[in-house]
Amino acid sequence: MKKSYIISLDQGTTSSRALLVNQEGAIEGMVQREFKQIFPKSGWVEHNPMEILESQMNVLSNLIKEKGISPEDVKAIGITNQRETTVVWDKNTGEPVYNAIVWQDKRTADICETMKKNGLTEHVRKTTGLVIDSYFSGTKVKWILDNVKGAKEKAENGDLLMGTIDTWLVWNMTGRQKHVTDYTNASRTLIYNIVNLKWDDKLLQALGIPKSMLPDVKPSAHHFGDYELDGVHIPIAGIAGDQQAALFGQACFKEGTAKNTYGTGCFMLMNTGEKPQFSKNGLLTTIGYGLNGKVNYALEGSIFIAGAAVQWLRDGLELIKDAKETEALADSVEGENPVYVVPAFAGLGAPYWDMYARGAVFGLTRDTGKAHLAKATLESLAYQTKDILKAMEDDSGTPLKNLKVDGGACANNHLMQFQADILDTEVHRPEVIESTAMGAAFLAGIQVGLWKQEDVDQNRPMNRIFKPTFDRVKRKRLYGKWQQAVERTKGWEA
Ligand code: G3P
Repeated sequence: MKKSYIISLDQGTTSSRALLVNQEGAIEGMVQREFKQIFPKSGWVEHNPMEILESQMNVLSNLIKEKGISPEDVKAIGITNQRETTVVWDKNTGEPVYNAIVWQDKRTADICETMKKNGLTEHVRKTTGLVIDSYFSGTKVKWILDNVKGAKEKAENGDLLMGTIDTWLVWNMTGRQKHVTDYTNASRTLIYNIVNLKWDDKLLQALGIPKSMLPDVKPSAHHFGDYELDGVHIPIAGIAGDQQAALFGQACFKEGTAKNTYGTGCFMLMNTGEKPQFSKNGLLTTIGYGLNGKVNYALEGSIFIAGAAVQWLRDGLELIKDAKETEALADSVEGENPVYVVPAFAGLGAPYWDMYARGAVFGLTRDTGKAHLAKATLESLAYQTKDILKAMEDDSGTPLKNLKVDGGACANNHLMQFQADILDTEVHRPEVIESTAMGAAFLAGIQVGLWKQEDVDQNRPMNRIFKPTFDRVKRKRLYGKWQQAVERTKGWEA
């Protein structure tokens, strides 16, 4: 019998990947390509949109070639992407007017300050569910329109389009026909009303963004357009921002279920059901997914630097050659680690929201070695996660029963054990940690009738459950030190 496949395109912050998922929901192949990170100035982070597109198309065609798949067997394509990263391009030429401004980029802090001064904080919170921060797309669009010569006039003439990375990919993959996004990506732009599901006129006006630049917003499972491959039209049938895709891929469908993804950053999302719940503790309210005519909301804790801190050990400090080395290094430290790394390289996200915080290392003594730094860096991921979990439990009023984890760094046993210890909560690691790519595949597969939503929860065997071992006093002591360290990094660049 002929097999049916879904291809999941996972366009992340540091690499583009294509995964082949068979009709049983198993991954049969994966091709990945890293692309260039551009740092023009301190605090600025850019990507070349053309390189993103080329790398994504390249991994897609290599996957098909390597696996010997015929395009007829691919029933649909699902797309998941780094969120908030923003591209503005000329719809006549297809050329971006500027590099993509990446979610980690801090250049729009001043625009955010002006928005705050103009009294928009509460309006932003109530309509978009977000806080005013350079993290989101809206201020990045304004920066491009204000700083690229001729861009504002072109935008006003209706010649420019904007989009998050999903939108950029789909526009190109559909032969420049479809200018679309899904609810989850729109909910990260700072200009989308997540309650009435419309672009927000007041915020568009405040940022000087013409409506003609904006994509149509659709549910996450939807026929977004077709990608033509060797004469075969393959529907693009699922789109979700990567963190929401992971929520879906981990089958967090019930209210109160949550996942934590350890990628470049670290993002914890909790499904809060069909009504948005607004945080009192610095979390974001965001759209979890739109499916079958319904919208599910989530509370999100966004940590900007997680795996990227391990990358810094490797590429910045050159202390290690491979991220995997951190596990043995951390294991080699005897007793408690006196060193604390606060990786606020891109400011602090939830629950602190300090665009001006910068990274710091505390507790150095003459005998500090690279093992301490490696361990402290891993521990910083766990401490930041605890900050978020605390806020989530305070908002929802219920302690989390267990934490479902995924993403590259959750393979690190030292980190996962420390995570369980510092949270005092079980950490559940599934066998397949590709929840992001699987989430996009499931959305697309559900749309074309290959699966039902119930199927997502099948075949999810656990790899390992990490149980907490610290006593209360130890946990409190270590976490107290972390909180002190965080306090000292705040407001550094202000
Ligand atoms: O909000 C940013 C997030 O979507 C980036 O995810 O996996 O590329 O770190 P990742």
